[in-house]
Formats: sequence, structure tokens, C-alpha cells
Amino acid sequence: MKSEQRLEPHPALPDYYPDLAQRPAFVRGMFDRTAGYYDRVNQLLSFGSGSWYRRRALTRAGLKPGMTVLDVAIGTGLVARQALAITGDSQAVVGLDVSAGMLAEVRRLLNSPLIQGLMEQLPVADESFDFVSMGYALRHVADLNVTFREFHRVLRPGGVLLILEITRPTQPFKRAILKFYLGRVIPLLSRLTTGNRDMQTLMRYYWDTIENCVPPETIITAIRDAGFAEAGCDVEFDLFRAYFGRKG
Ligand SMILES: C[S@@+](CC[C@H](N)C(=O)[O-])C[C@H]1O[C@@H](n2cnc3c(N)ncnc32)[C@H](O)[C@@H]1O
Repeated sequence: MKSEQRLEPHPALPDYYPDLAQRPAFVRGMFDRTAGYYDRVNQLLSFGSGSWYRRRALTRAGLKPGMTVLDVAIGTGLVARQALAITGDSQAVVGLDVSAGMLAEVRRLLNSPLIQGLMEQLPVADESFDFVSMGYALRHVADLNVTFREFHRVLRPGGVLLILEITRPTQPFKRAILKFYLGRVIPLLSRLTTGNRDMQTLMRYYWDTIENCVPPETIITAIRDAGFAEAGCDVEFDLFRAYFGRKG
């Protein structure tokens, strides 16, 4: 059953913006200003394993040559570049992002069609893609129910949804270590390696949104409620989550 209720990924975070109405402008501005540093910090954060992990997740979810892909929240193209390596056709991988700064970065790196827009209102025809991917942007949407319904709408019957995300570990000890690493060490290193204060804020915000995000079960239920016949999640190290859905 499709849920009409609003489902925010996390409550307002007053350290960054006073209320949820201001969140979209804050998020967009922050990504616009940090786009040029994003890849460098991502390498640091993932110890260089980010591309490998993304490619493996796409393959496991069933991405194959010949399929068409919509990569929402493309950013600098870290997921899209791997999708392209699998499908082998740059025109078959379409990227969407709200941030003009991110789109300018990815345009330098990829020869794929790009769309500026919101994932909550995809400017894309019904049933036009075989695969929808989204890497590390679930925490930024205004409403998970609306967003998942949009993903379902643009997929062809049998199409696959893959969402990569980091989740707060369930074990307190692991959570405390991650909080220190992502909440303190990475923001400081990001600032020191880029000289950019916004990058430090972005990385602090990264951890704060992870810590306050709704639990995985809520996300899986929302994917199913959006109409996906199959919905679930693979988890590794109590941390990395690959949510998937298949349109019936
Ligand atoms: C953390 S980056 C992820 C980039 C890439 N997918 C990856 O795997 O690294 C998040 C991206 O989501 C985009 N974004 C945030 N909110 C959005 C929205 N409502 N609609 C479309 N894009 C959005 C940001 O502009 C940013 O480029």
C-alpha cells in the first residue's frame, strides 16, 4: 500500500539550520561550495575503496551491459562512473543532481546526459529506466515516501532500485568509534587537506545526519510501501547498507 504520510529521514538539526524548511537551501549551498573537493575527501574517508565498493554493489544488484541507469544525486559521479564501466555505454547512464556545482564537476569527468533537478520530483518519464541508483544521499531528501514513489514511477516493470548508505552501527562500541572518526577526525582532516571550512562543515553534517537517521527497518518499509514488490537490505560491518527494491 502506498503511504501518503510524510517521512523525513531525520529531524531538523538546529546547529545547521533553524527548521526543516531551510534544509534544502542549506544542503544545496553546501554541496555547491564543496564540489571541487568532494572526490579527494571521499578517497580519504574510504581509504580509496569507494569505487571498488560501488562497482561491486551495482553488480550484485544485477546491473548488466545493455541496461539504462538513472543515477540520482550523482554528485561528482562516483556511482555513475562505475555504472558506466559495467554498462559500457555513456548514453545509457543518466545523472541527476540538484547542485549546479556538482554537475559542473561531473561534466568535466563524464560524457553522460545530466539533469539538474530534485529527486523528489524527477523530471523523467514514467517507466523509462531499468535501474535507479542513489549513493549516500538518502539523508538529504525532504520526504522518503515521495522520493521512493518517484523511483518506482520511473522504473520499468522488473526494474531495480539500489540505494547505498552508511548507517549508525547497532553495537555501542562500534558506534562510539565511528562517532569519533566520522564526527571529529574526518571533519578536521577534511579542513586540513583542502583548506576549505565548508568541507569541514559538510563532514560534520555527514555524521550528524547518520546519527539521527531513521532506522533501516523504516527505510525498507518505505521502499515496500512505495510499491516495490521486493525490498530489502544487505549489511556489512554493521555499517554499510545496500538497500534494494524490485518493481513487480
Ligand atoms: C554525498 S553526495 C553523493 C554523491 C555520489 N552519489 C556518491 O556516491 O558519492 C550527495 C549528493 O546529493 C545531492 N542532493 C542532495 N539533495 C538532493 C535532492 N533533493 N535532489 C537531488 N540531488 C540532491 C547533492 O547535491 C550531492 O551531490
